[in-house]
Amino acid sequence: MNPSWQKIAAGDQTVLITGRTGTGKTHLARQIHELSHRKTHRFVAINLATLSENLIESELFGHERGAFSGADAKRIGKLEWANGGTVFLDEIGELSPRLQTKLLEALNSYTVSPVGSNREVQLNIRVVAATNRDLRAMIRDGGFREDLYFRINTFEIHLPNLSSDPTRIFDLARKFALAASSRQQRACPSFSPNFLKSLEAYPWPGNIRELRNCIEFALALCSESTLEPESLPAYIRENTISHRAPQALALFPADYRAAKSLFERAYLEEILTRYEGRINQTARETGLSKVTLIEKVRRYEIDVKRIKYTAHLAKSSPAS
Ligand SMILES: Nc1ncnc2c1ncn2[C@@H]1O[C@H](COP(=O)(O)OP(=O)(O)O)[C@@H](O)[C@H]1O
Ligand SMILES: [Mg+2]
Repeated sequence: MNPSWQKIAAGDQTVLITGRTGTGKTHLARQIHELSHRKTHRFVAINLATLSENLIESELFGHERGAFSGADAKRIGKLEWANGGTVFLDEIGELSPRLQTKLLEALNSYTVSPVGSNREVQLNIRVVAATNRDLRAMIRDGGFREDLYFRINTFEIHLPNLSSDPTRIFDLARKFALAASSRQQRACPSFSPNFLKSLEAYPWPGNIRELRNCIEFALALCSESTLEPESLPAYIRENTISHRAPQALALFPADYRAAKSLFERAYLEEILTRYEGRINQTARETGLSKVTLIEKVRRYEIDVKRIKYTAHLAKSSPAS
């Protein structure tokens, strides 16, 4: 990590991370927490773009039982839950004006009151916020409170688009290739000059996230010792080497074990998604033992938390 960011991380100031999707905002927020004295406490992330206003309010501040219809049980808010640690407010530019005011009050007074309660809880949290919006432009248009902006951007770190730095593309590509090869217990293939050219020529609108997916895809397709542009997804090749005749997209690599891993991972992700990330039910439906299923989920690094969260959002999003 950049040495001046390390210093920022070690301090206790609020940090605002800006950058487009996939530039590594969430990744950096977690690193900041891990490098801070708060690392033995919780890192609590909340995405403010994906929930309805009422849900966000009780996620952030908590609520008492019976505070509103449907509040069957008391709930601890994430600001309180993070006490001692770091709270990551992702997509802060999406927060409604009312909740901007409420958040600012909580941060300024270092206290939080759950919805429907007179109880005040002392807060000792570090805030790291992120956005892909231009908050200064939003302030000019009246969409974001200037005082909240000043409260959260003690330090602002802007993460650049990946395409602006070819060296970084190559370094990260190598890192992802090494990690994926070691998971598959195989030697890491080298990159041919044409492969590097293709990586450099592609604009990477999905930034690091897209690069990572793309390298994992290429590795699954390639059983040779060198990666060539042919192993890249068709849309990336077409974007970079459009003068070549398009090829039929090969779904599976020739190597049996590589093909089996590719299939197994996609299969498990699909079935886990169908059963909303529930391990017991997925084990039952697939006929795998729970132990085997968990072992495979680990080996393929399938993000079950994310699958559960997405299922939760799909159920709760149209409210308010
Ligand atoms: N510096 C980095 N080194 C390795 N992987 C990274 C780095 N930054 C981001 N990533 C990976 O890239 C993907 C996208 O990063 P993420 O932090 O989720 O982006 P954002 O929050 O800006 O959308 C994740 O899989 C993350 O692990
Ligand atoms: Mg993110």
